[in-house]
Amino acid sequence: MASSSSSSVPALAAITCLVGVCWVAIGPLRPESPPLWTLYPFEGLQNYTSGIIHHVRLTGLKPNTLYFYRCGDPSIPAMSEIYHFRTMPVSGPWSYPKRIAVVGDLGLTYNTTTTISHLTSNDPDLVLLIGDVTYANLYLTNGTGSDCYSCSFPHSPIQETYQPRWDYWGRFMENLISKVPIMVIEGNHEIEEQAENKTFVAYSSRFAFPSEESGSSSTFYYSFNAGGIHFIMLGAYIDFTRSGKQYKWLEQDLANVDRSTTPWLVATWHPPWYSTYHAHYREAECMRLEMEELLYSYGVDIVFNGHVHAYERSNRVYNYNLDPCGPVYLTVGDGGNREKMAVKYADEPGNCPEPSTTPDEYIGGICAKNFTSGPAAGKFCWDRQPDYSAFRESSFGHGILEVKNETWALWTWYRNQDADNKVGDQIYIVRQPDKCHVRQVLKSWIDDI
Ligand SMILES: *[C@@H]1O[C@H](CO)[C@@H](O)[C@H](O)[C@H]1NC(C)=O
Ligand SMILES: *[C@@H]1O[C@H](CO)[C@@H](O)[C@H](O)[C@H]1NC(C)=O
Ligand SMILES: *[C@@H]1O[C@H](CO)[C@@H](O)[C@H](O)[C@H]1NC(C)=O
Ligand SMILES: *[C@@H]1O[C@H](CO)[C@@H](O)[C@H](O)[C@H]1NC(C)=O
Ligand SMILES: *[C@@H]1O[C@H](CO)[C@@H](O)[C@H](O)[C@H]1NC(C)=O
Ligand SMILES: *[C@@H]1O[C@H](CO)[C@@H](O)[C@H](O)[C@H]1NC(C)=O
Ligand SMILES: [Fe+2]
Repeated sequence: MASSSSSSVPALAAITCLVGVCWVAIGPLRPESPPLWTLYPFEGLQNYTSGIIHHVRLTGLKPNTLYFYRCGDPSIPAMSEIYHFRTMPVSGPWSYPKRIAVVGDLGLTYNTTTTISHLTSNDPDLVLLIGDVTYANLYLTNGTGSDCYSCSFPHSPIQETYQPRWDYWGRFMENLISKVPIMVIEGNHEIEEQAENKTFVAYSSRFAFPSEESGSSSTFYYSFNAGGIHFIMLGAYIDFTRSGKQYKWLEQDLANVDRSTTPWLVATWHPPWYSTYHAHYREAECMRLEMEELLYSYGVDIVFNGHVHAYERSNRVYNYNLDPCGPVYLTVGDGGNREKMAVKYADEPGNCPEPSTTPDEYIGGICAKNFTSGPAAGKFCWDRQPDYSAFRESSFGHGILEVKNETWALWTWYRNQDADNKVGDQIYIVRQPDKCHVRQVLKSWIDDI
């Protein structure tokens, strides 16, 4: 149950509360919003029509309160089971969700089921999904799997998708995300180009985003608070340049953050800037060059990324230099999808990619250049694990963030092959607001511009 943001809300929500427990009846749900279509007007391909997708905005909810709810139309009658969810705690420096689960690149495989089963038993209060959701684009429209992009789309000038994968994925995830709020940001597998250049249709229709609430009016980037944490969700597969809309929105959003209410500032986007694996090595360098300075100047504490199918934790870093005031970068593209795991490191002999092969067409041109300083000066890759890489391992798993107070947060990575309570990597991430000067813009000053 994500926070909802549809403006034409077709349903009514009746809320009654008694001693901290509330009941919500959502309904009647009537087909006033159109279903989602995916069209492939090419010989031999199938189109897809979804069921009706409803987004319902619940207003007036109280923080840190347990709500029970049912959805449906009692007049038919057709009502769902009774579900429940707990709202986030109020924003403030002493108020945090206990456990936030973070995972990327999930897909829907046996490994995904292991990840989600471990994640669920860690009892999270909030789930962050850092892009690459269902991998529906690795199937032909008749449902046959197809990992070979260049050779497997003989009947179609564009890459096909099999949209029922989204329905399978939704049914699989229902047990978790009917109870725990989930926030999602898009990955490359959500592009899903179809006829008339339509992209991101399933992603933008199936999830609800607090876009209006955070002033972005886009499903591709938005922000929200969860207790004393301000989360910024960024889009890597749309315009991120300094003159573009997303960047302008980001500047405004950062300027509006009040660190006395939300001391923690966490940013997420799909492709990592600081990954040392061979797969996708320095692929998002154009985005880094545009946005890193701005995020740094506002003292972003933690960055979550996916895309690389493995786990990696960085030391605090800025512009490839160790910097006590830079963010900690955590790559968690280890959800268990059907593509291969990343195992090779770019710093191993023979594994440094040729720079011209590294860009992704959606993330700009060739921006990655050889390093100009440090042990890898003049080269494209280090010859050992770079100093900004603190820990890396090719295993599937998920992470749990537990913010303890204004300055301490415990990060734990759990591996799928381990027992539930065994830890794969664990560290306290400690903020130093007194040492790291953070750009602050006074509210009254913003109101004037
Ligand atoms: C898919 O939709 C397109 C556009 O509406 C249509 O031209 C085509 O015939 C449809 N294909 C099938 C198999 O129904
Ligand atoms: C993925 O799941 C399969 C089937 O359960 C298992 O054999 C395999 O070890 C898992 N792979 C990883 C990397 O965890
Ligand atoms: C789906 O289409 C592909 C490509 O045309 C074909 O090779 C495959 O056999 C089809 N699968 C099914 C289940 O019809
Ligand atoms: C789709 O994109 C291509 C390439 O950018 C362009 O030539 C074409 O006109 C576009 N089609 C539509 C329907 O917008
Ligand atoms: C960049 O580094 C690579 C080795 O990592 C080297 O082969 C190449 O010549 C360098 N390019 C430039 C322009 O220095
Ligand atoms: C913050 O939490 C950490 C870890 O629980 C603890 O060691 C530290 O003393 C706390 N700091 C404050 C100011 O409460
Ligand atoms: Fe990806």
